[in-house]
Amino acid sequence: MKDMLERLEERRAQARLGGGEKRIEAQHGRGKLTARERIELLLDKGSFEEFDMFVEHRSTDFGMDKAKIPGDGVVTGWGTVNGRTVFVFAKDFTVFGGSLSEAHAQKITKIQDMALKMRAPIIGLFDAGGARIQEGVAALGGYGEVFKRNVIASGVIPQISVIMGPCAGGDVYSPAMTDFIFMVRDRSYMFVTGPDVVKTVTNETVTSEELGGAKVHTTKSSVADGAYDNDVEALLQVRRLIDFLPANNMDGVPELPSFDDPARVDDSLDTLIPENPNKPYDMKELILKVVDEADFFEIQESYAKNIITGFGRIEGRTVGFVANQPMVLAGVLDSDASRKAARFVRFCDAFNIPIVTFEDVPGFLPGTAQEYGGLIKHGAKLLFAYSEATVPLVTVITRKAFGGAYDVMASKHIGGDVNYAWPTAQIAVMGAKGAVEIIFRQDIGDQEKIAARTKEYEDRFMSPFVAAERGYIDEVIMPHSTRRRIARALAMLRHKETERPWKKHDNIPL
Ligand code: HXC
Repeated sequence: MKDMLERLEERRAQARLGGGEKRIEAQHGRGKLTARERIELLLDKGSFEEFDMFVEHRSTDFGMDKAKIPGDGVVTGWGTVNGRTVFVFAKDFTVFGGSLSEAHAQKITKIQDMALKMRAPIIGLFDAGGARIQEGVAALGGYGEVFKRNVIASGVIPQISVIMGPCAGGDVYSPAMTDFIFMVRDRSYMFVTGPDVVKTVTNETVTSEELGGAKVHTTKSSVADGAYDNDVEALLQVRRLIDFLPANNMDGVPELPSFDDPARVDDSLDTLIPENPNKPYDMKELILKVVDEADFFEIQESYAKNIITGFGRIEGRTVGFVANQPMVLAGVLDSDASRKAARFVRFCDAFNIPIVTFEDVPGFLPGTAQEYGGLIKHGAKLLFAYSEATVPLVTVITRKAFGGAYDVMASKHIGGDVNYAWPTAQIAVMGAKGAVEIIFRQDIGDQEKIAARTKEYEDRFMSPFVAAERGYIDEVIMPHSTRRRIARALAMLRHKETERPWKKHDNIPL
C-alpha cells in the first residue's frame, strides 16, 4: 500500500514538472509564470482540484510516441474565486509549446462541459502555439470541439480568456468567442499566423509585438478588452472581474456587502458641467462618484475612448455602465464606439446585469471615413442592442442628446425604463448653430438675424424641458442626487418582467 502511495506521489510530481526544469526556467526567464503557478494565483488558496493530470497524447507520427508528457500541455480543473466556483484550464507552454492535441482538447472540453453543467464561469489561461502540428487533423478536430462548446456556452456562463504568451491559430480563435480577453503587456501576442508566415505570404516584415501585441489588440483591433503589466496583475484583475459577474444567465448579479450610503449626495456634481457647452469634462468623474466606493472595472479602456463601458456596483449589486465621454471627440458616436458599447450592452443583457447610461452625445460622426466604414451598420448595432435589452435600463442625460444618438442611447422610445435629465441637458435634433443655418438659410448673410434666431432656438430647444413636457424624460433631477435617484430606480426595477415574441434568434446587423 505504502509503495502505491509513493508511486502516486512520484507520478504526480512528474506531471507537475510539465516540460521539465529547463523549460520552466526558460518560462521564468521570459518573465512568465508556469500554468500551475498561474492557477495558484487565480484561485483562492488551496482551492484548486485538478482533473486529468495523467492524460497523454496518442500520437505516433514524427517520433511523438517517444515524447509523452503527463498532462499533455494543459492543466485543468476547478476551484473558487472569493468562495465562488469557477472552472479553469491553463495552457502549459513548457509542453510542446502548449499546443493542442486530440487528448489535450478532450481535457479542455471535459472542463467546458462541467462548467456548463454546473452553470459556473470558465477561465482559460492561454500561452500556446495552436494546433499540435504533428497531430494534423486530429488537432483540428479537437479545436472544432472546443469552438462548438464556446458557442453553446455563450450567453449561459461567463467565459474569460487571459492571453499570457505567444498565441496562434486555435489559441486565438477560441478566446475570440469568449466574453472577455485580457492580455499581458510585452509578453503576450495574438495572431492567426505568426510573423514568419506573414513574411512568406505578404512579404511584410513585422515583429510579434507589432503584429499582435497587447497594444495592437487593446487600441487598434479591439480584440482584447484590457491589458496588464504582468501575469500577477492580470490574474488579480480577473479575480476582481469575477466578483462583478453572475455565475450564469439565471442566477442574477452577485450582491456584496456595501458600506456606501445609496442616498449619498455629491455636491461637486452640480458644477461638473462647464458653462461653455463646447467645453469637455470627464464623464468618468460622474461614474466614480455614483458607484459604490468608487470601484469601477472598465472594459476596453484604451479603445474608442469616446465611449466608456464597465462594471460598478450600486447597493452592492453589479451594474453595467455605458457613458459618452466628452473628453474624446466630444463624445461623438462613431463605428468603433458603437460596436464597443453594443457588445457590452449585449453581455449585460445576456447575464441580467442592469444598465445605467450616462449621455452627452453630439450625434454620429459625419464623414466619408465613417460612412465607407459602415457607420450605418455599426451604429445600428448599438441601437439594436439597447432595443432588444430586457434588463433594467436607467438613463441620465447630463448635457447633449442630439439627433439619432438621442434615440440610440437607451431613450424612452427604445426601452429606457427610467429616463432622467440634468437641468443642463439639451435634447434636440442638433445644436442651435447647425439648426439655424439649415432652417433659416435665407438669413445667413444677416448676422443679427442669425444671432436672434439662434437665441430663439436655444431658448426653446436647448433644455430638457421640451422632452420632459412630452414625458420622454421622467424627471429633471439635481446632479448632486444622481446616485440616490439611480439606486432607487434600480431597486424599483429589480423584478422587471418584459414579454417578447418567440423567435429562434434575432438578426443583429453584424
Ligand atoms: C507543436 C509546437 C507548436 C505547435 C510551438 N511548438 N508551437 N509544437 N505544434 N503548434 C513547440 C516548438 O516546437 C518548441 O518546441 C516549443 O513549442 C516552443 O516554441 P518556440 O517556437 O521555441 O517558442 P517561441 O519562439 O516563443 O514561439 C512561439 C510561437 C511559435 C509563436 C507560438 O512556436 C509558432 O509560431 N508556432 C506555430 C504556430 C502555428 O502555426 N500553429 C498552428 C496554427 S493552426 P521545442 O521542443 O523546440 O522546445 C491552428 C488551427 C486551428 O491552430 C483552427 C483555427 C480556426
